[in-house]
Amino acid sequence: MTEKPRLVVLTGAGVSAESGISTFRDSGGLWDNYPVMDVASADGFARNPALVHRFYNMRRRELLEVEPNSAHRSIAELERWYRVTVITQNVDNLHERAGSSDVVHLHGELMKVRSMRHPGRVYDLDADNLDTSPESRDRYGDPVRPHIVFFQEPVPEIERAAAIVEEADVVVVIGTSMVVYPAAGLINYARRGVPVYYIDPNPAPVPDRITVIKAKATEGMECLVKMFRH
Ligand code: APR
Repeated sequence: MTEKPRLVVLTGAGVSAESGISTFRDSGGLWDNYPVMDVASADGFARNPALVHRFYNMRRRELLEVEPNSAHRSIAELERWYRVTVITQNVDNLHERAGSSDVVHLHGELMKVRSMRHPGRVYDLDADNLDTSPESRDRYGDPVRPHIVFFQEPVPEIERAAAIVEEADVVVVIGTSMVVYPAAGLINYARRGVPVYYIDPNPAPVPDRITVIKAKATEGMECLVKMFRH
């Protein structure tokens, strides 16, 4: 049985936009309504942890109300013909809920918290157990925090992600403004000759080697699945 070609899909907030989750930098986006350095940075968390806990509690509630869209499902469907790894900047769980089996979360996961004393202790939240606060404690009595990579914090998965992109036979980028590093630099790890597609209705400037598909995620993925299915 021949090895399936390796497809790496790099996603940003745009892939979840059609599920009803607002992006960050489009007009009316999250950062228009919340000062990013207050609710999503290490300094902001140190300054006012209760505000940060409330921000992520609100985003968890929003996540429970939405479903994966057909772009998430198309990405999962491509696993029939490719070994697919999704490397996402998103903290939602829509890729997993759509059926993707290999997802790397560069910026953490909304439905998880972790011990502040032992960061390796990561805990799943669920619909009955959504909210956290500075008073929340794990079973060892230690405070917990959102399992999110805040601005000003390192991205632990970036080396592994770069190595995965280097192995890719095809790369697809969906719905990211390409302004947040190191995630935005991952496309540079695609080997020469490897096709790279970028689906975005308002694409950021990218090198000529990248094929831009100026479309929403659901429409762009519909085209790509037709192209990629054997
Ligand atoms: N389909 C595809 N792309 C879309 C759609 C859609 N329906 N709607 C919007 N977009 C595109 C926008 O054109 C933009 O390029 O999604 C992108 C969203 O960009 P951002 O809001 O900057 O989101 P993202 O690139 O994921 O942000 C990166 O910044 O704030 C941090 O940690 C946060 O992971 C996030 C990171």
